[in-house]
Amino acid sequence: MATPKAILFDLDGVIVDTAKHHFQAWKQLANELGFSFTEEDNERLKGVSRMDSLNILLEIGQIEKSETEKKELAAKKNERYVDSISTMNETEILPGVEHFLNELKNNNIPFALGSASKNAPTILKKIGLFEKFDAIIDGNSITNAKPDPEVFLLGAKELSVNAKSCVVFEDAQSGIEAGKAAGMYVVGVGDSRVLKGADDYIKSMEEMTLGRLEI
Ligand code: BG6
Ligand code: MG
Repeated sequence: MATPKAILFDLDGVIVDTAKHHFQAWKQLANELGFSFTEEDNERLKGVSRMDSLNILLEIGQIEKSETEKKELAAKKNERYVDSISTMNETEILPGVEHFLNELKNNNIPFALGSASKNAPTILKKIGLFEKFDAIIDGNSITNAKPDPEVFLLGAKELSVNAKSCVVFEDAQSGIEAGKAAGMYVVGVGDSRVLKGADDYIKSMEEMTLGRLEI
């Protein structure tokens, strides 16, 4: 593609590694409900909204709960998650992220966050990147979770850029599908043998430069 007009970043797994914190909180909940929850199970929750994640967890444990009980369980998991990220700071920004964000700033390319997490603003503030983003679209601003393209289309709209001129960075399958459904160029962050359907793949943001996107 020609020089992108804007960049949209997923948060968890792209900017910061929060998967381990999510995993511990879900695992504790599963154990309390009487079943085990593995790291492999946790892979299924990447990019998935809080309530959808809980539904997958309950399906794994073959447990049925009412809507009210589900709300309570999701709130309990979130309390623990928020507690475990309370000490997070800029040292937890993933390698290569700050360098690439600075390259974008120096080239006047705007960037937005496109995350399913309702905790996204808190996390960005903790790691000192909140002010750098030109727009923040998170789990509080959307109705339809990834793989629906809503989060990225809203990001493009906020930045006043055509979707086709945007590049998305995503580590989750649902996020790659959301970016493609939005008509954007998608870079998968992670293992290309696991992630499917992206236009390009990198193992870490350390591999990314603006030049690589100008093909
Ligand atoms: C996504 C994570 O970014 O946000 C998921 O990959 C998580 O694991 C989802 O469930 C929702 O996050 P939160 O912070 O709103 O519970
Ligand atoms: Mg992610």
